[in-house]
Amino acid sequence: METELSRIGISLPKNLLDRFDEIITARGYSSRSEGIRDAIRNYITYYRWMSDVKGERQGVITMIYDHDQRGLLPTLTDIQHEFRETIQATLHSHVTHNRCLEVVLVHGDGTELKALAERLMSQKGVESVKLTTIPIDE
Ligand code: NI
Repeated sequence: METELSRIGISLPKNLLDRFDEIITARGYSSRSEGIRDAIRNYITYYRWMSDVKGERQGVITMIYDHDQRGLLPTLTDIQHEFRETIQATLHSHVTHNRCLEVVLVHGDGTELKALAERLMSQKGVESVKLTTIPIDE
């Protein structure tokens, strides 16, 4: 149950706002505020869902990033080496001249998988990271 409205001011890169506006227009939202409320609800749901990832899991991390972002490539490599026990394989696709799609096959404890996804997500130049997992039942 949501309560009274609070007003906030946020600063966004113009191209991010333009892309957001295109989506809310295409989806027929009545206002930008309604689109932002929905986006925040989805963000909260995603994190709740992520926090249920426990125990031994097999999963996939799908990541999109800008390889022109200064320092990003060596950082991503360092993180992947740090999590070498968790990562089984990586598939890379060069989507455009600067955008890359990477699919990382992961196996291990849910908390490790989440830690890896969150580390990747927090890097500047990483556009999106999605973790999908299934539990391993013997
Ligand atoms: Ni690439």
